[in-house]
Amino acid sequence: MKEEIRIDKYLADMSVGTRSQVKQMIRKGIVTVNGETVKKPEQKVRIQHDRVAVSGRDIAFENEVYLMLYKPAGVVSATKDPREKTVLDLIQDKKRKDLFPAGRLDKDTEGLLLLTNDGKLAHEMLSPKKHVDKVYFALIQGKVTTQDQEAFRQGVDIGEDKLTLPADLNILKSDDVSEIEITIREGKFHQIKRMFEAVNKKVIYLRRISFGPLELDPALHPGEYRKLTEEEIRLIKGETNE
Ligand code: URA
Repeated sequence: MKEEIRIDKYLADMSVGTRSQVKQMIRKGIVTVNGETVKKPEQKVRIQHDRVAVSGRDIAFENEVYLMLYKPAGVVSATKDPREKTVLDLIQDKKRKDLFPAGRLDKDTEGLLLLTNDGKLAHEMLSPKKHVDKVYFALIQGKVTTQDQEAFRQGVDIGEDKLTLPADLNILKSDDVSEIEITIREGKFHQIKRMFEAVNKKVIYLRRISFGPLELDPALHPGEYRKLTEEEIRLIKGETNE
């Protein structure tokens, strides 16, 4: 991130308004830098040092944004889509233009999705080499058995070059519709659905409950989101430094 940027970009990046709205604010004389009224949109500000305010309200610069979203079913994990509603359509306030989902959940999958503009961190958390744990709760059509547990521990054939990595299957209820928790360490397309297909069963509901050290906040409802805490940011950064 550059040390100095134009004041209109600074304010637009902080979602104070669009670039042209911000220029209008500057024209109106309501934007100040270190208490001095800004005259031109091209004026440079030092993002670490200068104090920027609009109508007397301080606008701090945030380089990186990390949001925990409880993805609801029915939205796609993309930044844009010509037909479907995307996870970014759910973000209302202070939406950064460079925000994107770190990884993908299927349209019908719910649960924890990290939205960020930190490309480096997202890349690291998703890297197949890092084996970041992902835990899902699922409802499965049919009785899930200890044989399935063993098969997942060994790795199953989902039509890739290699078997899946060992996954931990915790059977919460084995019945006509079973309840399970599963921990996987990779993130292949439709991975859990394909793993259950490999043992002749069908996933009928899927919710991600953790992603590395992040746990889905029980206070969130589907469609809601919040910023990560400092502690959570520290944990995810630690995870990728190992
Ligand atoms: N596995 C799946 O099958 N779908 C998801 O959305 C995530 C993991």
